[in-house]
Amino acid sequence: MDRFLIEGGRPLEGSVRIGGAKNAALPAMAAALLTCERVELDNIPQVRDIITMGRLLAHMGAVVETPELPPTTMIIRAEKINGAEAPYELVRTMRASILTLGPLIGRTGSARVSLPGGCAIGARPVDLHLKALEQMGAEISTSHGYVEARVPGSGRLRGGHVIFDKITVTGTENVLMAAALAEGETKIENAAREPEITDLADLLIKMGAEIEGAGTPTIRVRGKQKLHATQHTVIPDRIEAGTFLVAGAITNGALELTGCAPEHLASVIAKLRETGVEIHETAPGTLAVRGAKTLAAADVRTEEYPGFATDMQAQFMALATQAEGTSVITETIFENRFLHASEMIRMGANISIEGRRAIVHGPSTLSGTSVIASDLRASASLVLAALVARGETIVDRVYHIDRGYERIEEKLSSIGARIRRVH
Ligand code: UD1
Repeated sequence: MDRFLIEGGRPLEGSVRIGGAKNAALPAMAAALLTCERVELDNIPQVRDIITMGRLLAHMGAVVETPELPPTTMIIRAEKINGAEAPYELVRTMRASILTLGPLIGRTGSARVSLPGGCAIGARPVDLHLKALEQMGAEISTSHGYVEARVPGSGRLRGGHVIFDKITVTGTENVLMAAALAEGETKIENAAREPEITDLADLLIKMGAEIEGAGTPTIRVRGKQKLHATQHTVIPDRIEAGTFLVAGAITNGALELTGCAPEHLASVIAKLRETGVEIHETAPGTLAVRGAKTLAAADVRTEEYPGFATDMQAQFMALATQAEGTSVITETIFENRFLHASEMIRMGANISIEGRRAIVHGPSTLSGTSVIASDLRASASLVLAALVARGETIVDRVYHIDRGYERIEEKLSSIGARIRRVH
């Protein structure tokens, strides 16, 4: 299993290009199942989850090609879907596989998708996805660890009125995709407002769907008989950008991030400024970050977009260990998303957990040791902590970070970090 060896204590300086958003690229790839025509996706990040989704689509009969190197362009042709099934071997490594459920039912009237099961950061059920698709006419049962769905009669879903009990990002995406081929209008209420939802709606509109209200809590979709070929450029990854902003801040460095969408980072930028970090948009899509000699503590509460993203919580905790004073970090989205805290404590951080709150007293001098990454964003936060720690840190189970960050060790080395991957 790969691990990173990181020698801390160097300010990061230079320029980094931010890749396409994993969480926008995954639903975009799934959406290609909705048409038998060619879908070209650009700005695809080179991360493990994208490879997994590509395999999943190929398993279902789609032709998936990446004609260029580096493979940031992907062409998907789902002319025929021969196996509307997402098997456990692929789903277990990536929860986002559930995104194939909506398009499969929408296009073929049936689907068999393995249940994603639990994961380190919480139970993460898919009950809301299933309930919504049932409201659109699907008959759904779960047996032997699989969701089996079928639309009786014509095999075509019908529009419905979906009111989500709780805001769910992939749940909203699944319904959006299913509704694009359903008969009549679907109204989605309490929809997620993440930029990735708007990006998916933009793609579906280019494919011929009629959608209004994406980016607001109420979305209306008028279903079409057929969708068609298109080209779409995926939005920049706001979480990768946020992680590099923290990397600049925590090392008291000076970085320039290109290829970002600063408008999607408003709450993260505001929070970092509260700690004393300087961030400016120096050109369209370019952010400059400069650390501060003394960082101030700041409280954070994770919320659905446009609030502070849960996917940035762990990285902010790493920064809070270096800030003067007490930062209270409240996690409201996932029930068990503080697994990184115990590893940071082993590095010398002063953190106590009280239910959904982490109380961080800083600043602490961190020292290198062996730490284990428990999930994608937790592993990023441990890399950040290692960048300021004294001596060498070994971050184990790097496969988590490879799921969602493209060539992170190359990008970090190019701006002065001492980081090495060992096999
Ligand atoms: C997506 C993101 C993930 C991010 C999360 C929250 C992708 C591929 N992943 O995950 O990076 O951390 O949004 O911003 O885009 N829930 C239920 N029942 C359901 C669905 C969700 O109870 O059927 C709960 C979850 O357990 C969680 C909350 O709702 O507590 C929000 O989860 P959700 O927005 O669905 O997260 P994902 O879409 O899985």
